[in-house]
Amino acid sequence: MINIDRCLCHNRTFASLKDVAAAHGVNDLESLQKIVPFGNNCQLCHPYVRVMLRSGQVVFNQVLTDSALEEIDVDVDIKPKEEID
Ligand code: FES
Repeated sequence: MINIDRCLCHNRTFASLKDVAAAHGVNDLESLQKIVPFGNNCQLCHPYVRVMLRSGQVVFNQVLTDSALEEIDVDVDIKPKEEID
């Protein structure tokens, strides 16, 4: 099983990004990038950060892409990990 938990290019975990977002009241990727450096290289972390900002999930076991997110309603289908466990 894969565990995807960070922006690899900046070695910045989604958990740490979640904490920064909460501390600054930020709920979108672009605003978060203005506060903390991440996601400006390959950008493969972007869909994970978008889901994290909506759901609170910080570890993922499946590959997400921006195009795949457009096909699903992440507001409805993805719950915080704490609710799943
Ligand atoms: S994994 Fe985040 S920019 Fe590459």
